[in-house]
Amino acid sequence: MEDPTKLVPRKKLFIKTYGCQMNVYDSGRMADVLAPLGYAPTDQPDDADMVILNTCHIREKAAEKVFSDLGRLRPLKAAKEGMIIAVAGCVAQAEGAEITARAPFVDIVLGPQTYHRLPEMVARATRGGKGVLDTEFPAEPKFDFLPAPRAEGPTAFLSIQEGCDKFCTFCVVPYTRGAEYSRPAADILREARGLVAGGAREITLLGQNVNAYHGDDPARSGASWTLARLIRDLAEIDGLARIRYTTSHPRDMGDDLIAAHGDVPQLMPFLHLPVQSGSDKILAAMNRGHTAKDYLNIIDKLRAARSDMTLSSDFITGYPGETDADFDATMELINTVGFIQSFSFKYSPRPGTPAAGIKAQVPDDLKTERLHLLQQVLDAQLRTFNTNCVGKTFDILLTNSGRYPGQVVGRSPYLQPVHVMADPKHIGSIVPVKIVSVEAYSLGAVWADALEPAASA
Ligand code: SAH
Ligand code: SF4
Ligand code: F3S
Repeated sequence: MEDPTKLVPRKKLFIKTYGCQMNVYDSGRMADVLAPLGYAPTDQPDDADMVILNTCHIREKAAEKVFSDLGRLRPLKAAKEGMIIAVAGCVAQAEGAEITARAPFVDIVLGPQTYHRLPEMVARATRGGKGVLDTEFPAEPKFDFLPAPRAEGPTAFLSIQEGCDKFCTFCVVPYTRGAEYSRPAADILREARGLVAGGAREITLLGQNVNAYHGDDPARSGASWTLARLIRDLAEIDGLARIRYTTSHPRDMGDDLIAAHGDVPQLMPFLHLPVQSGSDKILAAMNRGHTAKDYLNIIDKLRAARSDMTLSSDFITGYPGETDADFDATMELINTVGFIQSFSFKYSPRPGTPAAGIKAQVPDDLKTERLHLLQQVLDAQLRTFNTNCVGKTFDILLTNSGRYPGQVVGRSPYLQPVHVMADPKHIGSIVPVKIVSVEAYSLGAVWADALEPAASA
């Protein structure tokens, strides 16, 4: 079939993505829906005919960044007739009206649930329709209107679940992404097969609450499919060597999913399982629905299922009412579990969320101090884990060329970036390497066999 993008004039599309991996996936899908209109990606905003800022509302800093970036785009747009500026994602959803008021030169404001309608919005904006705003939560799931994604390299994201019904008291996601929605298993399996046929060797299943997944089963019998069943189905696809999923909630870490970690070799031994705090008082105030002990039990069960299981987490310091004792409980949990990578943030009050209205806010310098203490321990844990890898042999998935000639970058089972000298023809292969050095955030390796293998694994 003729490439539809060749039938219309070529235009350039620049997308800047903030926030989580769901947004990374969404940016790819926005590029897909705009391709038939002649838009090809560019990595320079200066020569773009259309710029999309795909935004994140999770913390105040993330949201404010959008307005400073818009300030920089304004002269570009003034200099280029017909340039379209769109603001998408979670800031658009939460502050759509404020964006059009503060930055009236923005042509399109769209939420995360309406980007399948982008071609229509672009047509309206091109006809001079100022300030096209589409932030509703439509009844039709956008996935039914999107073209099949293409694999771009050996690793792919696949969005299986969206939205959140958990309403943690600090978090905007239930408001910006809407209610929980799981895609039908048959659609996911079809998309996965397409990605693997296109060269993907590793698929990361995505969702704001990915392990709350409860889709229709592939035979549409009315039964509900869990994430564990979906993973077992995906493991049947020939050529799919690695499966990951993110982000999970401890409350949905059921025994069937834990068992899959023991039984499905393709499921990688690294899990991002945010805990936020180690204090039961703070966990309850956050509406997380579990205790520190519950979390530790899950970790024990995961390690019993798979002994090399490694963990990462998200932490918040200075949630309203957090005392020194609460913070100590978080540090204790970190020391008990031992994480190999984590994200940690100062609590940021978000408009409209219950925690923002609590009187006992923690002073900023205390939040900062606790954040630094926590990050020191997390960094030390990561360093120890990486150092202990030296001398070991892992299978790594080679994903792309490195910065230096002859260098190829891969990912270990634990998601560490690993550098090795190799011919780029091996990209896409899974090869055994021996770890020989530790950099700040990556590992150096040599082929485990004395000779580089001649053919792909
Ligand atoms: N669904 C995931 C998290 C999604 S948001 C979960 O439940 O764990 C990603 C991370 O941002 C959260 O885990 C939390 O650590 C952080 N975060 C969310 N709201 C925040 C806020 N108001 N202030 C600081 N960090 C926040
Ligand atoms: Fe936010 Fe909580 Fe939902 Fe995670 S589970 S997205 S932190 S409300
Ligand atoms: Fe940010 Fe929205 Fe993701 S608020 S973290 S982009 S779901």
